[in-house]
Amino acid sequence: MKNHRETFGSNFAVIMAMAGSAIGLGNIWRFPYIVGQYGGAAFIIVYLIASLLLALPIFYAETILGRASRSNTFQAMRTFAPKTLWRHVGFLTIISPILIMGFYGVVGGWSIQYLYKSLTFSFVRSTPDAIDYYFGSYISSDFTPLIGLSIFVAIMVFITLAGVKKGIERFTKPTLPILMILIIGIAIYSVSLPGAYKGVEYLIKPDFSKLTARGVAAALGQSFFSLSLGVGTILIYASYMKKEQNIFSSGLGTALFDVVFAIIAGFAIMPAVFASGLEPSAGPGLIFKTLPFIFNKIGQTLPLVSGIISIVFFFSIFIAALTSAISLLEVGVAYLSEETRLNRKFATIVVGGIIWFLGVLCSLSFGLLSDITIGGENIFGIFDHVCSNILMPLGGLLFTIFVGWKMPKSTVYEEFTNNSTKKFNIKLYPIVRFLMRYVAPIGIIAIWISIYL
Ligand code: TRP
Repeated sequence: MKNHRETFGSNFAVIMAMAGSAIGLGNIWRFPYIVGQYGGAAFIIVYLIASLLLALPIFYAETILGRASRSNTFQAMRTFAPKTLWRHVGFLTIISPILIMGFYGVVGGWSIQYLYKSLTFSFVRSTPDAIDYYFGSYISSDFTPLIGLSIFVAIMVFITLAGVKKGIERFTKPTLPILMILIIGIAIYSVSLPGAYKGVEYLIKPDFSKLTARGVAAALGQSFFSLSLGVGTILIYASYMKKEQNIFSSGLGTALFDVVFAIIAGFAIMPAVFASGLEPSAGPGLIFKTLPFIFNKIGQTLPLVSGIISIVFFFSIFIAALTSAISLLEVGVAYLSEETRLNRKFATIVVGGIIWFLGVLCSLSFGLLSDITIGGENIFGIFDHVCSNILMPLGGLLFTIFVGWKMPKSTVYEEFTNNSTKKFNIKLYPIVRFLMRYVAPIGIIAIWISIYL
């Protein structure tokens, strides 16, 4: 059985696959608006520290566990701690992705709507005020956003049902580089807008007085969300790694890719936010208000070019969202079809149905269900908050404790150093082990205590 498991061809292929899962709405949509809500540069510094000291060690813990066990979360736990409570950690890796998909699917639906609007050249023809107004009226209009959501979920289910892995891969490979090039181009344009310097200042000049305990927790949550940690995605990918591939460099490569992408997205969005007089704390709609504003502005002089950039941009966002969404759907489908009697097709439809239903709740929470709130957050916000700031760090915490304290020491060492063949990894090993055993668990718990007590 073990010998038949597929593997990635090279270190580069591993980094690309992991970065493909990591880079998605988390970088382009979530990062800029979270930065805006928690105060700019100071938040980014905490986010970078959290990525390096907490998220990266957990990335390594998941990778080590995945490659050593060559199996899914449930089986991985059973391999190294048979008949213990650890096997239940698997459930967290089923629940979290489905909840994440609830709000992720809604944003995927928004991207479809904005793609449609781009195709009709609406943003080029509209006025800045109308663009600003449009987003609010669209998401609160109850029915219309459900169309995008339903299309998004249907496409996701359809692809998973058809199992067209090759097709989707062929689609993803060119779109990520295109997205990267477009976002760099938009960042350059955005920085050159009149009044943009305030946005640049916002991103590079830290004001720690604005940073709250909640902000620190949000920075931790963002680093987990963006690196796809704590729900077993990275673990599964690592189970397809070859023994001679380098865990240290693949992890660092993926994290760098992911962080750089997010920071560039910040530079594409924030200067334009200030230049257009929008509020940085506008929340989940931030990019949907800012980007059309930029496209409108470019459209004043170059309408055709602007229209085309806007189409390509929202199409790329849609594809980036779709590929991450499929990896999230896959966790639940794989579980149901491997560990219960449901067949794969039926499992896909069941999980897809649950995701659609949760998505409807999240979508309606901007209109019909907007009265349902906890601590000022609507259902959409609660889903996001619970997943990113609680469930994912909890999953990561359990993984790092498992690898740091429960797994045989020698296995962890062999995996990280490729059986003592990588000199650099041998040198780094004590630091990484210290981070996995002490810094990451204590850091996560300390952050929780600081906000919830
Ligand atoms: N990291 C992806 C993003 O930034 C989303 C994602 C994919 C994810 N797989 C995940 C998030 C697993 C959490 C867990 O858009």
